[in-house]
Amino acid sequence: RNFLQILGLTTLVTVVGGVGGFYYVTQKERHPGPQLPFDKEKKTVVVLGSGWGATSLLKHLDTEDYNVVVISPKNYFLFTPLLPSVAVGTLSTRSILQPTRYITRHKTRTVSVIEAEAKSVDPVAKTVTFTDNSEIQGEVSTTTLPYDYLVYAVGAEVQTFGIPGVREHACFMKELADAERMQRQFMDCLESAAFPGQSQQELDRLLHMVVVGGGPTGVELSGELHDFLEDDLKSWYPELAGKVRITLVEALPSVLPMFSKQLIDYTESTFKESKIEILTKTMVKEVKPKSVVLQNPDKSIVEVPCGMVVWAAGNTGRQVTRDLIAQLPTAQTNRRGIAVDDHMRMDGTDGSIFAIGDCTATSYAPTAQVASQQGAYLARIFKQMARKEALVAHKAELSATMNQITGEEEKKTVVSELASVEKQLSKLSKLRPFQYSHQGSLAYIGSDKAIADLPFMNGNVATGGVATFLFWRSAYLSTLFSLRNRVLVANDWLKVKIFGRDVSRDA
Ligand code: FAD
Ligand code: NAI
Repeated sequence: RNFLQILGLTTLVTVVGGVGGFYYVTQKERHPGPQLPFDKEKKTVVVLGSGWGATSLLKHLDTEDYNVVVISPKNYFLFTPLLPSVAVGTLSTRSILQPTRYITRHKTRTVSVIEAEAKSVDPVAKTVTFTDNSEIQGEVSTTTLPYDYLVYAVGAEVQTFGIPGVREHACFMKELADAERMQRQFMDCLESAAFPGQSQQELDRLLHMVVVGGGPTGVELSGELHDFLEDDLKSWYPELAGKVRITLVEALPSVLPMFSKQLIDYTESTFKESKIEILTKTMVKEVKPKSVVLQNPDKSIVEVPCGMVVWAAGNTGRQVTRDLIAQLPTAQTNRRGIAVDDHMRMDGTDGSIFAIGDCTATSYAPTAQVASQQGAYLARIFKQMARKEALVAHKAELSATMNQITGEEEKKTVVSELASVEKQLSKLSKLRPFQYSHQGSLAYIGSDKAIADLPFMNGNVATGGVATFLFWRSAYLSTLFSLRNRVLVANDWLKVKIFGRDVSRDA
């Protein structure tokens, strides 16, 4: 009896403690306290963007040292790795968003968050010009803001290679609105196919989904589409689901060129089992309203009817980035993006512009992992610069005091303090270069399977399957920036497991 009583009491204490702890943490998150105001004595850091690079910087930056202003057309951070899951309704849109203010309101000093799009940067005058083009304004308002340091983290935009019809007729998979649009179009194809009296030809067209680009985005999206079909559409559209075709088109000889050979083979065989057709060495030449024009490996051209085209063919620099690069033609010659030094300082500037993430041209792949590590690194660099500036000011004060004092003892104290300041300054004068630490590559390939290339003891472990899928899920759950998002995503996964995905189509 004693044992049962102790067990019961322990369980009760654990549950109450757990619930109480959870409540305390969430309430603390919900009700941030007062913050220090902007300080005229401090330098101003303007951050452009609220994506992986910028958000990681904001998380780690000590705002006691700077006045910080964030400018981004989106007032939130988007967890891109789970975007394909939103496109098929596995996750709801809000679950993978984190409002930027949820981060900045917890900083020591007030951070100004401005929802606007940077239009131009003047590296000589050290200003950013940005516009608020929200519909409610009615008119576009433009403002220019000076900065002491600029963190340029605007990411990239979808690369269309100027291929006709892509912008007009294909869905992208880059922003939240893209996933929502794709979901609508996919459901539209199904409902139109269910309309009475459709010809066989039209049925075949409407139920043919083409994904362009065999990089991780295209592969993950194809896998997610397949799951939607298998897990849900077979129940609600039994007469149509079996007729839906998914084709993945890739210009290179294989999909996922960044993964190990065995994982590429594993993905291709999984797709074969899932009846996802992969067309390699095949290039999309044009996207039409009801078809896609392909160039086959033998260079012959075919026009393939389809209901939906999803364009996941890579990224390119934004116009604002190209304009900035064009202002520094001698130092900025890389067409892929902004050239930076080992400390993420933009080449050709006086060191006041830092660029991170997908907008840069470095030896690293344009991934979230790289961008977030660069953001965290920059926060450390800013800390070091602030400490250095404080020491320089202290040194000047000590030198001024030195000229005024006459007592030998006092002089000795100041001299020794000056020596200590010098020592600290010489330590701080060397900024450690950015070093990327690769944590591995992961991708979901559908049918509850994922693939992973993981670094292990100077080598690599390649793994794929259901266990890797569970690892993929737990890895992304822990990478989500907040407890709130983790709870929302886990809840969505559970909801879909129990009730399935929603097949209603919003207007
Ligand atoms: P972004 O995260 O794109 O952020 C750019 C920010 O700048 C955004 O907030 C944007 O609103 C803002 N902005 C845009 N224009 C302006 C402007 N003019 N002025 C001010 N702000 C502006 N990488 C991985 O490592 N693992 C993955 O699993 C993975 N999955 C992905 C899945 C998908 C579907 C996609 C599209 C990408 C995925 N990536 C993944 C890549 C990863 O998302 C990017 O490498 C990462 O987002 C780059 O971070 P960033 O900060 O440079 O840019
Ligand atoms: P990507 O650049 O990796 O792949 C695009 C693919 O489209 C290329 O393989 C290219 O050959 C192909 N392509 C281009 N034009 C084409 C055409 N006209 N016809 C047919 N094929 C064409 O782009 P993606 O997948 O969007 O990834 C972008 C970045 O984000 C990469 O660095 C990637 O590693 C990262 N990412 C990582 C993920 C992960 O780790 N799970 C998931 C998604 C993206």
